Formats: sequence, C-alpha cells, structure tokens
Amino acid sequence: MNIEDVKKICVIGAGNMGHQIALCAALAGYQVRCTDISQEMLNKAEGFAKTYLPERVAKGKLSQEQADQALRNISFIQNLEEAAADVDFVIEAAVEKIDIKRKLFAELDRITPPHAILATNSSFIVSSKIADATNRPDKVCNMHFFNPALVMKLVEVVQGPHTSTETAQITMDLSKKMGKNGAWLKKEIYGFLVNRILAALHNEALFLVDMGIASPEEIDMAVTNALGHPMGPFRLMDFTGIDLSYYIGMERYQETRDQKDKPSPLIIEKFVKGEWGKKTKKGFYSYD
Ligand code: CAA
Repeated sequence: MNIEDVKKICVIGAGNMGHQIALCAALAGYQVRCTDISQEMLNKAEGFAKTYLPERVAKGKLSQEQADQALRNISFIQNLEEAAADVDFVIEAAVEKIDIKRKLFAELDRITPPHAILATNSSFIVSSKIADATNRPDKVCNMHFFNPALVMKLVEVVQGPHTSTETAQITMDLSKKMGKNGAWLKKEIYGFLVNRILAALHNEALFLVDMGIASPEEIDMAVTNALGHPMGPFRLMDFTGIDLSYYIGMERYQETRDQKDKPSPLIIEKFVKGEWGKKTKKGFYSYD
C-alpha cells in the first residue's frame, strides 16, 4: 500500500480535535466520515464546517468551489460500522482513556478492511498500549495533531516497535497531503517532542503560581511579551483543556511514581471543580 491508495478516511471523535482534523482531510480532497457517539457533537461539527468554510471564502482564503467540494467530501455519521466500513485510514481522536481506545481499536480491526491503517491522535497514550487489541499491530501508530488542527502545521508521527515503516511513511505522506509538516519519531517516548517541551514550560509556570510569585495573568503577559509565544501557558491550558493537563499528569505519575510528575495542586483543584478551561467557560480565565 502507498499514499495513493488512501482515498477514504474515518475520523473518530467530533470534539476539540476531531472536527478540525476531519475538515483538514476534507479540504485536502479525501472522502471523510466523521463519527462520534454523540449526535450533538456531530451536529456541532457539521455546524462548524458550514460556518467556517464560507468565512474562509469571504476572507479570500478559499475559492467557493474549494469550500463546496470540502463540504461534499465530508459526512457526519453516528454509526461506527457505517462510518468505518470501507475506509483506508482511520484517525482516532476520541476521549483520552486507554480502555475506551483499546475497545475502539478492537472494533475497528473487525469493521475496517484489512489494509486500513489505524492511527491514534492521542498526545500521550503511545500506540503500543493499543496495538495488541488488533490483529494488525504493524498498521497502528500515533498521528498527533495540534490544537487548533486547521491552523497548526505540525503532526507528530510516532512509530512504535510494532509499527511497520510502510505505515509510518504513509502517515507522514498523509500529513503532507493535509498541508502539515510531519515529524517522524522513530521510537516511542512519553510526551513525544512538543508536549515534553511544553510540559517543562507549564510545570514551571504552575510552580511560580503555587509559590505565590506571580498570577497566571502576569505570567501569560510575561511569556507572550518576552518570548513571543502567541498565548501564555495558562491561556493555552484553558484552550487545550485543563482536564487534558490533569489526565496527562496522572498518566505520567502512574508510570513513574515520581512526585514531580504529579499534576500541580492548581491543576488538581481546577479539575475537581470542573473548571476545565474554554470548554466549560471557566478555567484560569472566564469565557462568557
Ligand atoms: N479554529 C480554526 N482556525 C482558527 C481558530 C480556531 N479555533 N482560531 C484562530 N483560527 C485561525 C483564524 O481563522 C486565522 O486564520 P487566517 O490567518 O488564515 O485568516 C488565524 O487562525 C489567526 O486567528 P486570529 O487572528 O483570530 O487569532 P490569533 O492570531 O490570536 O490566533 C491561535 C489564534 C491560532 C489559536 C493562536 O493564538 C495560537 O497559535 N495559539 C497557540 C496554539 C498552540 O500553541 N497550540 C498547540 C497546543 S498544544 C497541543 O495541541 C498538543 C496537545 O496534545 C494538547
């Protein structure tokens, strides 16, 4: 199999990441089925596509024809069997829970054609924790996009010990077709490239707040003004989801049992209060 054999893609999960990944693939000319267990999420994703595409046309970033074609390329289907039955490539962007992912990959293994590649967008669950739920571990890898997926240019392609080089190569090629720059990680490592770097920054920022040195607002202002980052660490955690910061920290801590890997008290407090950032309208900032 090579990249030219990839024509139909199923994106699983219509949340923060999935709805934009699906649209990226549709804009790149692929036949895309976006699926989610929640019809409400699918309606939201479809609504987003129907407002985003005309806005791009109005801004002069897309032609009317490209926008119409992208809308024709994408469908929103709740039933997983129907959405994944005849696809060549799956990008799973469901909830970051390992048991759910393993169950999903076992089902995908049954539903999809034997040649289909099954990639997970997970940012911290390496595919070797999922691949053995399928009978095609050589066709399983991580394909990690960044938020917002329509804007951010990087995709991390992580080749596990079970992943064939052909699978990793096709995933790199697909990233390119979707207008992204792929970074090929030849071995699995916790946090991949970017989240390892980001975690160092975020942990330091959280430590400074926990120590009462400065507020989240001041630190965000300092980082945007001094380092030129488009968002400071607290604004970014609100954007990507404080629940995700919590799950990433807990997963890491369970693996290492090192206290320094435990989520910071501030993250635990926000997680328990349900203040998960933009998605719950409150995190480090309020969003009305
Ligand atoms: N969805 C789609 N497009 C969006 C968008 C969104 N939510 N928000 C902004 N855009 C687009 C706009 O349409 C605009 O596009 P054009 O320039 O082509 O017209 C462009 O982005 C800039 O938008 P704005 O001028 O409105 O806003 P901005 O300049 O403040 O940019 C931002 C917004 C792109 C989100 C910018 O703040 C940014 O880059 N933030 C940092 C994001 C980041 O670091 N992401 C990585 C997070 S880590 C991660 O994702 C890993 C993980 O595992 C969790």
